[in-house]
Amino acid sequence: MFTIPQADSDPSVLRSSILQTVDNVTHGETDLIANCANVASVLYHMLADVNWAGFYLYKQDELVLGPFHGKPACIRIALGRGVCGTAARQRRTVVVPDVEAFPGHIACDSASRSEVVVPMLRDGVLIGVLDVDSPVPDRFSTDDVALLESIACLIMSR
Ligand code: SME
Repeated sequence: MFTIPQADSDPSVLRSSILQTVDNVTHGETDLIANCANVASVLYHMLADVNWAGFYLYKQDELVLGPFHGKPACIRIALGRGVCGTAARQRRTVVVPDVEAFPGHIACDSASRSEVVVPMLRDGVLIGVLDVDSPVPDRFSTDDVALLESIACLIMSR
């Protein structure tokens, strides 16, 4: 059984604790769906002000909804569409401080105000994206983005 540590009020301690928890819940497991499912849970429960945390997986030239926590979301996203499709096509992290200012943003939960999407690559091959949404504008700091990139990398190394 895994336990989710108490949230620390110090953001940098909290980020370390989240990375450690992600390491714990994926340790020794190679199944992508299982790891994504537990990581979605960890992020949703440990990050403050997050209304959606989860994954889209790259299948037959589109992104398909994977494990997540939050409200039901759109199932298929074409490469290049929305924040997820942009991050996937460009193979780069996309940080959106204001979703209304992002052309083509796909609104799955109307509460979302800011968003970050990190591509997940294994040996240069696109596997999917990690997507986190917040009801707070400009929610994600550079350190938060670095944390999510480390997490995506860690999952890809399992
Ligand atoms: N907003 C995303 C769609 C996925 S949801 O946020 C869960 C996008 O524009 O790609």
